[in-house]
Amino acid sequence: MLYAKYHFYSEVNVMKEHHYPALNDHQILHSTLINDLNNKMTSIHLGLSQAGDVERFLIEWFTGHTANEDAKFGKFLAEKTGTQGAGGE
Ligand SMILES: [Fe+2]
Repeated sequence: MLYAKYHFYSEVNVMKEHHYPALNDHQILHSTLINDLNNKMTSIHLGLSQAGDVERFLIEWFTGHTANEDAKFGKFLAEKTGTQGAGGE
């Protein structure tokens, strides 16, 4: 949980610095994940879920979020700064 919060805090700061127009929507996605994680942690404590379920959820979330939402910011930043990201031509 702490890593997710740190990652989000760092990412949002860079987005603010570059005036990313979709910042609010992106922050909502982050907040939703934190809420979902809190619910899942409660579920584990109540014996309704297992840690492996949360681990799979997190891996899928980060994989999808990075590939889709964070990639949008990467594209925005590359266009703004006139640079290519990794794998660019
Ligand atoms: Fe993000």
